[in-house]
Amino acid sequence: MHNCLLLLAALVFLPFTVGQAPFDLYKLSLRWPPSECNIGQLKCTPTVLNYWVIHGIWPTYENNTAVPKYDKTNNPCTHNPTKENQIQAKLSSIKNTLTQFWPSLRNYADDNTNLKDWIHEWKFHGQCSDYPTDPLSYFNSALSLRRKNDLAGTRIQPREEPYQAKEIVDAVKQILGATPEITCNTHRPSGMIQLREVRMCFKRAKPPTEPRDCPIQFSGTCNKESDHIRVPPAPSPGHSQVPWLPINIFLLAFCLGIVI
Ligand SMILES: *[C@@H]1O[C@H](CO)[C@@H](O)[C@H](O)[C@H]1NC(C)=O
Repeated sequence: MHNCLLLLAALVFLPFTVGQAPFDLYKLSLRWPPSECNIGQLKCTPTVLNYWVIHGIWPTYENNTAVPKYDKTNNPCTHNPTKENQIQAKLSSIKNTLTQFWPSLRNYADDNTNLKDWIHEWKFHGQCSDYPTDPLSYFNSALSLRRKNDLAGTRIQPREEPYQAKEIVDAVKQILGATPEITCNTHRPSGMIQLREVRMCFKRAKPPTEPRDCPIQFSGTCNKESDHIRVPPAPSPGHSQVPWLPINIFLLAFCLGIVI
């Protein structure tokens, strides 16, 4: 009788365990464009945005590993997830909101560049989420969590002097009610550590709403609360022209001199 129950349980749960282990949380990743755009790896056009934008919302295991992407043979986490060629049509009703809050940093003014980034996120993180056939709700869940936990309202404002990592963690905790993950990169040649992303974690639910502590507190080039982290301001749009201003004035004066 006992063995029989075990067998029954195995048969019931087997279908859920063959594909992949169930994941535990969603990680909402918010990026600070000035830090992504000033290290020379990414040419950001047409301007460097100066507000927090979404990178993605990632199904994640308790051990901090992201759920691997859908693969029909190697990772069949679901049956028939929405295919990438349907993404544009499925997201058309929220395209403008996504363009504003989930833009491609490579060129947010170009619809196709944005779409490529959304398709990438769908393929790598959406198809094995709890919304394999509902990309609209998947993308909306991230928009909604970003809106509810708006980092623009914290005291972490861009400035020249660095913050202590603990100040950043505490500021996010104040609005989120849980410990975030702080990700940094390093600016060259200054060697300054900069805030690259703030990641917020939520208990697995459909939709995810309840914050929880992230599995790790630091990643990238910062790793402790005493680190000094800069939150760089966006360059002003006319930035690259500023050094030429004196020459322009000189030329103008020169030409005027000739005319007069
Ligand atoms: C993390 O946990 C998942 C699910 O249990 C497992 O598949 C994966 O191999 C683990 N990764 C690491 C690096 O331990």
